Amino acid sequence: MKVESALLAEVERTAAETGAPILRAAERGRFRKILRQAAPRRILEIGTAIGYSALFMLIESDPAATLVTLEKEPGLAARAAAFFRKSPFAARIDLRQGEAEDILPTLSPGFDFVFLDGAKGQYPAYWEKIQPLLSDKAVVAADNVLFQGLVEGDPWVAHRYRTLVYRLREYLALVRAAAGYRTEVFPEGDGLAVSWRHWER
Ligand SMILES: C[S@@+](CC[C@H](N)C(=O)[O-])C[C@H]1O[C@@H](n2cnc3c(N)ncnc32)[C@H](O)[C@@H]1O
Repeated sequence: MKVESALLAEVERTAAETGAPILRAAERGRFRKILRQAAPRRILEIGTAIGYSALFMLIESDPAATLVTLEKEPGLAARAAAFFRKSPFAARIDLRQGEAEDILPTLSPGFDFVFLDGAKGQYPAYWEKIQPLLSDKAVVAADNVLFQGLVEGDPWVAHRYRTLVYRLREYLALVRAAAGYRTEVFPEGDGLAVSWRHWER
C-alpha cells in the first residue's frame, strides 16, 4: 500500500474512533474526478477537521500543488498537523488555526481551487470573501449543500435547521446566478456544489 493510502486509512480510523467529520465515502469518487479535471496548483480549504480532505486533495492534485487550510478548533487542528507531518506533503501544507472569517482577508490571492467545508451557515459569506482570492480560472467546491435533503426539498423546515437550510438555499441561488460561473450540484453524499469560473465545457 502506498504511504498516502495508508495515511488516509489511518485518518479514517481516527475519524471513526473520535467522531471527527471527514469527506463522506459516497462523495470521494466525484471529488476525485473534479480534482483531476481542475488540476489545481493552489488550493484553499475552509474546515480542515483532522485533515482527511486536505490530504485527499493533495494526493489527487499536481505534485507541486500547495494548500492553505483553515480550522477553528485547536484540538482538531493539532490532530491534522500531526497527520500532515507524517505525510509526504508537509512542506506544501499551510495549516492556520483560527476563524476563517478572520483569516480569509489576510491571505494572498491566486487560489485556483477552493473547498468550502466549514460552517454551512457561513457559505454565502465565504463565497463573497473568497472572490478577491481567486485566480481568473478557478473552481469552488462546497460540501453538504443539500443538507440531509432539506435544501431542495419541502419549503417548510424544522426550526432547529431553519437558518442553516435558508443559508444553503441562499448559497445555491448565489452561485447559480454568479456571472462567469457554471455550477453543478451533485447529489452523492450530502450534496456537492461545484462552481467553475471561466471554464469552457
Ligand atoms: C465537516 S468538517 C471538515 C471536514 C474536512 N474538510 C474533511 O473532509 O476531512 C468542518 C470543520 O470546519 C470547522 N469550522 C467550522 N466553522 C469554522 C470557522 N468559522 N473557521 C474555521 N473552521 C471552521 C469545524 O471545526 C470542523 O472541523
